[in-house]
Amino acid sequence: MGNQLALTPPMGWNSWYIHYHRVSDQVRRQAADQMIASGMADYGYQYVNIDDCWMRKEGADDPEIGGPIRDTDGRLLPNQRFPEMKVMTNYIHAKGLKAGTYISPGPQTCQGFAGSFGYEALDAVTFAEGGFDFLKYDWCSYGQKAGGKELMHLKKPYQVMWAELQGLKRDVVHNLCQYGMGEVWKWGAEVGHCWRTTGDLGLEKADSLPGFYRIGMKNAEHWAYAHPGAWNDPDYILIGWVGDAHQLGEEKAINLTPEEQYAYMSMWCLMAAPLIYSGDMVELDAFTLNVLCNHEVIEVDQDPLGKQARIVKKTDAEFLLVKDLEDGSKAVGLFNLTNNARKFKLLWSEIGITGKQRVRDLWRQRDVGIFNELYETEVSPHGVLLVRIWPKL
Ligand code: GLA
Repeated sequence: MGNQLALTPPMGWNSWYIHYHRVSDQVRRQAADQMIASGMADYGYQYVNIDDCWMRKEGADDPEIGGPIRDTDGRLLPNQRFPEMKVMTNYIHAKGLKAGTYISPGPQTCQGFAGSFGYEALDAVTFAEGGFDFLKYDWCSYGQKAGGKELMHLKKPYQVMWAELQGLKRDVVHNLCQYGMGEVWKWGAEVGHCWRTTGDLGLEKADSLPGFYRIGMKNAEHWAYAHPGAWNDPDYILIGWVGDAHQLGEEKAINLTPEEQYAYMSMWCLMAAPLIYSGDMVELDAFTLNVLCNHEVIEVDQDPLGKQARIVKKTDAEFLLVKDLEDGSKAVGLFNLTNNARKFKLLWSEIGITGKQRVRDLWRQRDVGIFNELYETEVSPHGVLLVRIWPKL
């Protein structure tokens, strides 16, 4: 692979939106087991990533997470919920999967656990020796240490960690997480493989649209910056059973209609986004798996050309994305932003094609016919028409 990693967007699972501060060795192993047992791995999901809260927290009363944050040599210590990191990553690797970790360049992570500030070189080595293949590097408390708000200060912590990762004898994907500051999409590729473009996804509804629409439509604006090895990251796929950040692990089913869930996955795939599921792997139901594991839909995300869909149209009613694919076809997503089912016309003239075209419905995995000039169909409220179009020769 040389120095080129993440030639297609990374796919996997992350602990955050389901386990929050409750993350442990056990839930992580379960996630790896389930990635295989559910069949997700067969569709390309491979990273099993822990998020915040695996380290120790200075001053914490709870003995499971308290205690010294580093040993006498300065090595970062995991908390007691992670008795042996290397044994755990070996377990994940033995299944043919990859392991990811998380830390902040600041003195503390967003949840107040130990950060890397001043120990970047040693921490990079510790992660590599611990068998990690993916690092999410989350700004969190770094603002206290940054010299200012100018671009050079925003870039600095990521340049430092990138340099350390380059020096390792291990391939580690670098996932920047700093919520889009300093227009990170313009420079993220200099220091990483993917970068969050916005704040956290959350479960709230924005106006009447679910939160993923707001985040997705912002992320979509940066389409021109994505390419193989360099991806805009609009945060995780949050469907199925999700956790509660504040309570003792109470779970709830995501409050999205089936049509909204198809729209969510479609938008992420059109945007060549990292496909990182962050719900409960043990409670994966048939519908959630069906959304996560439609190979024709995933193929849009993982297309080797590595283009992100461009925004062709955005009105109060309609959001239209078009992604050029390697074989010369186009993936088209027409999103209905209204609260009612509506008929939409997909005009060839708008998406840069002419003449007879073969249209395939990707969710249903079936051709809908050969059309000239336009394709017209009804789209459900907040739902999507996701098609792939080939010129009919
Ligand atoms: C930030 C990140 C989230 C998550 C939390 C963990 O909010 O954006 O994705 O990693 O920190 O504390």
